[in-house]
Amino acid sequence: MAEFLDGWKRDCMCAEVDAERVGKDVTLFGWVQRARNMGGIIFVWLRDRSGIVQVVFDSNVLDPDTYALGESLRNEFVLAIKGSVRLRNEKDINESLATGRLEVVVQEAKILNRAETPPIYIDDDANESEPLRMKYRYLDLRKPKLQRTMALRSQVMNAVRSHMISEGFTEFETPILTRSTPEGARDFLVPSRLHPGNCYALPQSPQIYKQLLMVAGMDRYFQFARCFRDEDSRADRQPEFTQLDLEMSFVEPADVQTVVEGAFARVFRDVMGVDIPLPLPRMTWKDAMEKYGSDKPDTRYDMTIQDVSAFAPGCGFSVFENSVQDGGIVAGIVARQAAGRFSRKEIDTLGEFAKTYHVKGMAWLSLQEDGTVRSSFAKFLSDDKLRELTDALELERGDIAFLIADRKLVALTALGQVRGRVARELGLIEQGKYNLFWVVEFPLMEWNEENQRYVSAHHPFTMPMEEDFHLLDTDLPNVRAKSYDLVLNGVEMGSGSIRIHASDLQEKMFGLLGFTHEEAWRRFGFLLEAFKYGTPPHGGFAFGIDRLLMMLTDSDSLRDVIAFPKMQNASCLMMNTPDEVSPDQLKLLHITFDADDAAAP
Ligand code: AMO
Repeated sequence: MAEFLDGWKRDCMCAEVDAERVGKDVTLFGWVQRARNMGGIIFVWLRDRSGIVQVVFDSNVLDPDTYALGESLRNEFVLAIKGSVRLRNEKDINESLATGRLEVVVQEAKILNRAETPPIYIDDDANESEPLRMKYRYLDLRKPKLQRTMALRSQVMNAVRSHMISEGFTEFETPILTRSTPEGARDFLVPSRLHPGNCYALPQSPQIYKQLLMVAGMDRYFQFARCFRDEDSRADRQPEFTQLDLEMSFVEPADVQTVVEGAFARVFRDVMGVDIPLPLPRMTWKDAMEKYGSDKPDTRYDMTIQDVSAFAPGCGFSVFENSVQDGGIVAGIVARQAAGRFSRKEIDTLGEFAKTYHVKGMAWLSLQEDGTVRSSFAKFLSDDKLRELTDALELERGDIAFLIADRKLVALTALGQVRGRVARELGLIEQGKYNLFWVVEFPLMEWNEENQRYVSAHHPFTMPMEEDFHLLDTDLPNVRAKSYDLVLNGVEMGSGSIRIHASDLQEKMFGLLGFTHEEAWRRFGFLLEAFKYGTPPHGGFAFGIDRLLMMLTDSDSLRDVIAFPKMQNASCLMMNTPDEVSPDQLKLLHITFDADDAAAP
């Protein structure tokens, strides 16, 4: 039988056993990390969330037959011990443990619970398969690294909350059962029992509620908001995630940015001990695309994109000539002193990689140490044209350039991806560096090939820049938005904008997005109507708490920073979610499933 606490009170965590406690008594609770019987003495590593300490069951102190336990200890048994702290002998010191110079000699012990052999090792270095870890996530979470990450997550949220409160924000909770918010993903739907044929949608973000709170005069709102988006999972995307969401009245972009960067600076200072100089740098979307081929550039390394379109006309290489003639560009990046690092095969692989970003191909040119040129296209160029190109690229001996000719944004985007991959392969990315900055002035709308219409680059509530109002009816693609993203080391941390606060402009925006007047009113009538009753100018922002944690812990996946994440296919192997429901439940919800579709995930 498991024993009970019987009034025993913990007075020390395992990792708090330190030199100051030598000679003193402690009561510890924890799990057996490992137990070794050394004939007459049992050494146990006792683990709690603070760490590990060695406790010693010594037959000179305890009944030599039972060691006060009556049975042998196995990994993950839950123990309570009372004992006294002593220094270890010099030869027994274990520097790999923070408490490794000390141990606790047990005087009394109880087994609070037994454990079967766990299906995974409680060890950071164990490399079980991810499905097994996820199935036994409650054991996986016992590992020290995940324990630290969860503690860090709480500290980060605390630092952010304190900052928001100190800036005069009020914390809100908005409904989870709501209607669709246009953040660009698919909705998770919840069928209504009381309204047959109708569904709630889980919020993709609290966007509309927070704007309505501004209409309501709440002035400064924030929330740790759970958001739900039914999109394909990736390492940095979960179907369910947490945002720090905020909204402010009577503000311009800089006011919102000041609050957000203050929160980030506070997190970095309090939690990481890193000082981030403020205000953060700003880069326009246009510069980000032209220099880095990305709206979330990683600026920890250079290798910026160079536009060499001017050299293309009459250069002799028809791919370049035609591209520029058709209104496209020729641009490239130069990997300095890396010509010898790429075999022909690797260059081909890189070319194939570029093609996955919708370009027709990638050309390359390297200058060998002996001054000779190797290239996929140089044979088409005259000596003068070749020199013009190498001059434009400032190509030195040992350098290699990768060039793409295509429509401007397509070429830049592909080059941005090539830039990232080359940097990773060459090890150019400096670790321990935090490049945090704003990307501003995004385009208001983007052309969507699939649907053959414009879609909002951010969301349909975003205010166009006043300077570009006159282009709304004549040159939509060139209208810039009052929007801003926060980028850290090439990852989008968050985004926000100043919102449209006038009913007529909002209605016009819906029109530009292809909604008829009726559709706009049917879907967003409550908002358009609210805007008629004195809406203050307002704007806001949201950043991903999970993404921030992922960066702070240098993790490869959001799964490493969320207690109970979903797998790539949006399932949870531990709870077996999603799961079948009974025919009765479905009937109550007025739903029937096609039998062929119903299958366990
Ligand atoms: P947006 O859609 O850009 O903006 O989301 C803001 C931030 O939320 C995080 N994020 C995610 N994190 C994990 N998994 C996901 N699937 C996921 N999707 C988004 C990212 C992202 O930058 N309502 C607007 C904000 C506003 O305008 O105020 C919004 O939600 O870090």
